[in-house]
Amino acid sequence: METAIVSESPQQLVSKLIFNTVVPRPIAWITTVSREGKVNLAPFSFFNAITTKPPLLFVSVGKRKDGTLKDTARNILETGEFVVNVVSEEFLEKMHLSGKDFPPGVSEAEELSIELEPSKLVKPPGVKGVPAALECVLKEHLQLGSTPMDVFIGEVVAVHYRPELLQTQLGVVGRLGGKRYCVVKEELDLSELS
Ligand SMILES: Cc1cc2nc3c(=O)[nH]c(=O)nc-3n(C[C@H](O)[C@H](O)[C@H](O)COP(=O)(O)O)c2cc1C
Repeated sequence: METAIVSESPQQLVSKLIFNTVVPRPIAWITTVSREGKVNLAPFSFFNAITTKPPLLFVSVGKRKDGTLKDTARNILETGEFVVNVVSEEFLEKMHLSGKDFPPGVSEAEELSIELEPSKLVKPPGVKGVPAALECVLKEHLQLGSTPMDVFIGEVVAVHYRPELLQTQLGVVGRLGGKRYCVVKEELDLSELS
């Protein structure tokens, strides 16, 4: 076992350790719209649930290398809405490719032939065919860290889901270190123990 004291370690190692030890991370495949109504789609794995009453989620969005806001962050700040699409194995490659830096105004969904469908309570559409899509409205915006990262806390206002997802999450995708992913292939149910 090796130990890295963060205050004595280079930032590159610290980042690498976070990416490779906080695993697997759930993936939020986020749809937003710009003020002009242009749809944007991008994946984020610094993402998780915070509370259930009310249902709050967070997603942490870094800046581009040139220090500008990513389209997702800009759109959430402009419109206060986003949709978190849950990624299953059949969407893995498209989700990964949608993380490329497409120029603003270019629709990832169109470029990658990803079908969208209207949401119920928010403007951004969801991705058609995913196991679940959570419609969110922005509750809080925090800026954390030295770059800084934009952390968005969203309240879930509607959930679209395949009913079988409440019984099994087989086939759902997570992020590992680097450009590696995992797919839930086996579930170990310990409910008999309690
Ligand atoms: C699986 C995956 C997870 C990602 N997670 C994050 C993340 O948590 N935060 C972040 O800022 N970027 C993350 N990225 C990179 C963004 O998706 C990428 O910067 C994208 O171009 C942003 O697009 P946008 O400008 O359309 O918002 C991730 C990429 C992939 C493929």
